Amino acid sequence: MARSYLTELDLTPEESLAILADADRMKAQRKDGAHRTDLAGKHVAVYFEKPSVRTRISFTVGVHELGGQVVELTAGNTKLGHGEELEDFARVVSGYVHLFVARVFSQQSLRDMAATATIPVINALSDERHPCQALADVMAIREKVGRIEGVKFVYVGDGNNVAASTGLLAAALGADVYVCSPDGYRLPDGIMAEAQGLKGRLTQLTDPREVVKGADVLYTDTWISMGQEAEAEGRRKIFKDYRITEAMVAEAGPQAWVMHCLPAVREEEIEKSVMYGAQSAIWDQAENRLHAQKALMRFLMSGA
Ligand code: CP
Ligand code: NVA
Repeated sequence: MARSYLTELDLTPEESLAILADADRMKAQRKDGAHRTDLAGKHVAVYFEKPSVRTRISFTVGVHELGGQVVELTAGNTKLGHGEELEDFARVVSGYVHLFVARVFSQQSLRDMAATATIPVINALSDERHPCQALADVMAIREKVGRIEGVKFVYVGDGNNVAASTGLLAAALGADVYVCSPDGYRLPDGIMAEAQGLKGRLTQLTDPREVVKGADVLYTDTWISMGQEAEAEGRRKIFKDYRITEAMVAEAGPQAWVMHCLPAVREEEIEKSVMYGAQSAIWDQAENRLHAQKALMRFLMSGA
């Protein structure tokens, strides 16, 4: 079976660091107009069950920059749910293309696809995880803070897919991670169990004020993830004190970098002035999706 990237812990810490170093190199070389042919003659299928801006564009451009071609599939232009099962779809598609990138609702769908696909499958977000975001985030932290090991990483908000993946990858690489969420919206027990034994600690808290001071990174994400629209009103009330504000950034200190995977709902989970402030690393994170995913694709296609 081909090596897939369904969760951020599918790579060893050494492999993640090697991919991040490759991403750093390609980011620098891209400015010099470097041309690569790693995916020459190869096709990549990108499949989306949910909408996307950053992931769709960064994968499409990334594949093209490596010399490959993209086939775009969605729930609307396939026969899934109309007589075709995901496992059969993955098996057939892997007879045509060399790499599968999929954004789905259920993490189990990715496991089913990877079980029958004969090519690598990359998780482009599920309800449970967002491991490509995690790679780009750690890349940005290393650029801004200068390291990942020992970094104090404070996540404020919903214990969702982004909190899980970026929290686990940062902890795997030695960061001290705190995820601060209201009761009922904490990281799932399974994610906390996966954090056991990692190099850094992942601690779940309720009140961010306990740990904000001295944070190197303050991270947040939307209160209403894709698929949770019906809960929007209730969630806005529950999360109202889990907003990254100017006051919170000042409390953290001048060393703190503010992060958000985007898209952001300004004045809900983050103040607009913080997004555009001098301590924002948000735009670097978004750009790094391209570089980190190119490095990930090179790694998986090398047959590692
Ligand atoms: N951060 C992120 O994955 O953005 P998209 O949903 O636009 O791809
Ligand atoms: N938690 C968000 C992330 C979007 C990139 C969602 O799943 O909608």
